[in-house]
Amino acid sequence: MITATWHGHSCYLFDFDGTKVLLDPFLSESPTADVKPDEVETDFILLTHGHGDHVGDAIDIAKRTGAMVVAPYELASYCGAQGLEVHPMHIGGGHDFPFGRVQLTIAHHGSALVEDDGRTIYLGNPCGFLFKVQGKCIYFAGDTGLFLDMKLIGDRNRLDLAILPIGDNFTMGIEDAVTAAEYLKPKVVIPMHYGTWELIDVDPQLFVDGVEKVGVKGVILEVGGSYALE
Ligand code: NI
Ligand code: MN
Repeated sequence: MITATWHGHSCYLFDFDGTKVLLDPFLSESPTADVKPDEVETDFILLTHGHGDHVGDAIDIAKRTGAMVVAPYELASYCGAQGLEVHPMHIGGGHDFPFGRVQLTIAHHGSALVEDDGRTIYLGNPCGFLFKVQGKCIYFAGDTGLFLDMKLIGDRNRLDLAILPIGDNFTMGIEDAVTAAEYLKPKVVIPMHYGTWELIDVDPQLFVDGVEKVGVKGVILEVGGSYALE
């Protein structure tokens, strides 16, 4: 049994048959998160890139839970220097974890951590994640613009679920995200990275209507809501 629970913005908690995998845990500073960092239990934390709205509370949660942090090499090394258990990976590489396989995909975005004092720490390249778990295939795009290689991901994998950003400004907007869904051809697509702030406050129903026209089922989750893969 696989469930994906949305905690607002790009934070998802996957439950892979009892193993918990938390993605991009932006919680304490998120205007829309439904849980506090100290309420979350997880076995792994996966980070797509170094921006504050993705690294979020990862370090505190990893310290408390002992969860292993999986991320692109530079970001993983940064987390390792904070005393966390880390597993560095990089674009194109996959690894079999106890819960299943994770492969890193490209994402067109940045990955620098900007400190409160304006200091900028460059943490390599951003990524997306392709999961193969219990015979299911899930693509989590991270923050990215549209790219043609999504066609390659869709052609080489039968995606059961894709989770795509739609909020525009920092990532794909709805129009490009609909084209992404067309390239990826997942059974179901769920939007993320919208509604957190006014700047990315788009109507997810327009996305769902758009993907329907290209033959893909869109599902809108409420914050705190879950989607179960059958
Ligand atoms: Ni970002
Ligand atoms: Mn972001």
